Amino acid sequence: MRAPLVYLDHNAAAPLLPAVRAALSEALDAGLGNPSSVHWAGQRARAAVERAREQVAAAIGARPEEIVFTSGATEANALAWHGVAADAAVLTSRVEHPSVMALARRRRESGCVVRWAGADTHGAPVAPQSLDAQGPVAFLSVIAANNELGVLTDLAAWRALAAAWGARLHIDATQALGRVQVDVRAWGAATAAFSAAKVGGPAGTGALYVRTGVPLEPLIIGHQEGGRRGGSENVLGMVGFGAACAHAADRLAAAASVRQLRDRLWAGLRAAVPGCDRNGAAPPVVETGQTLNVSFADVDGSRLQRALDVEGVCVATGAACASGTVEPSHVLLALPGVGADVARRARSAIRLSLGLETTPAEVERAVEVIALVVKRMRAQG
Ligand SMILES: Cc1ncc(COP(=O)(O)O)c(C=O)c1O
Repeated sequence: MRAPLVYLDHNAAAPLLPAVRAALSEALDAGLGNPSSVHWAGQRARAAVERAREQVAAAIGARPEEIVFTSGATEANALAWHGVAADAAVLTSRVEHPSVMALARRRRESGCVVRWAGADTHGAPVAPQSLDAQGPVAFLSVIAANNELGVLTDLAAWRALAAAWGARLHIDATQALGRVQVDVRAWGAATAAFSAAKVGGPAGTGALYVRTGVPLEPLIIGHQEGGRRGGSENVLGMVGFGAACAHAADRLAAAASVRQLRDRLWAGLRAAVPGCDRNGAAPPVVETGQTLNVSFADVDGSRLQRALDVEGVCVATGAACASGTVEPSHVLLALPGVGADVARRARSAIRLSLGLETTPAEVERAVEVIALVVKRMRAQG
C-alpha cells in the first residue's frame, strides 16, 4: 500500500482551504450568470465578483477599484510590465520568478535597457544605493518574498530608490500574501502581483493591484475589469480567491507554528543526513518561515525529487514552473559567497515548503524518507 502523502510544496500550490471549497460550492449552486448580463443571474455574478474584489483589496491594504483580476501572477507581472512601462528602461533583480526573468529577457531583446540588481548572501535582491553612470530608469520590478528561498526583500530600500528616480515600482508579492503582512500602500507600489493558489485559492486566478491614478494599458482589450483586462470573468476563480483572502489572517496567525515545523525539518535533516547544506535565507535573516532550500552533496536535485515522489513525498527543485527542466536554479546561481561550490550546490538542491496544513508527523516522515533516499542514491553513485 502506498504510504500517506507528505506534501511539502506549498510555495507552488497550497491545498484548497475548506472555506474556499464551501464558497465555490455555494457559488456553483447559486446559478451565476455572466457578470456583464443585466438580468438577475448576471447581476448575482456581478455581486459575487465585486465581493471577491473587496476581499482581495482588504487583504493587501488596497481599495477594491485598485484590483484587476487576472489568470494568475504570471499574467499580473506581464500586465504590469506591459501596461505601466512598455518600452521603458527597467531595473530588476537576478532572483526574480521565471515569469519576470522572461519579461526582462524579452525587453532586452527588443533593444531596451535592462539593469540587474544582484542578491545578498541570503538571496534578497539589493537595491543599488548610488545612481551609477547608467543613470536612473523609469520602472523597477522586484520580488517581495523569494519563491525558492523565502527570503524577504528590503522593500523600503526599493521604494526609496524608486522615489529618488521618479520611477514606478512593481512588486511581485505572490509569495508574500498570507506569509507576512501585506500593505501595498506602505510599500509604495505602483503595481503588485498576487496569485490565489499560494493562499489556498484555486489555481489559475490572480490579481494585479494598480494604485489609483496609475494609467494601465491592457494586454487584452475588452470592457471587463474597467477596460483593464478584457474577457468574460472567471467568476469561480475570483470567488475562490476572495474567500482565500478572507482567511489570509488565519494563515498569518499560523506562521509561527509553521516556522517551528520548518526549523524542526531542518534540524532533523541536519542530524539524519551527512553532507547537507542550507541555501540562502538562514537565520537571523528575515524570511517567510515556510521554506527550506537544501543541497545534498553528490546527489542530483531533480533525480532526488523524482525518487521522493515515488515514496510519496512531494518537494520541488527550484521554482515550480522550472521543475522538469534540468537547468540549475538561477536564484541559487545568483547567491554570492558560495564560490566555486555554487554550481554543485544548485544542481543538488531541493525546495521544501510548508504551510498551514503541515503536521509534525509529515515532517518526521519527510526526514526519514529523505535520509533513506539520499543514502540509497549515494550508494548507487
Ligand atoms: C514569486 C512568484 N511570482 C509569480 C508566480 C506565478 O504565479 P502563477 O502561477 O499564478 O502564474 C509564482 C508562482 O510560483 C511565484 O512564486
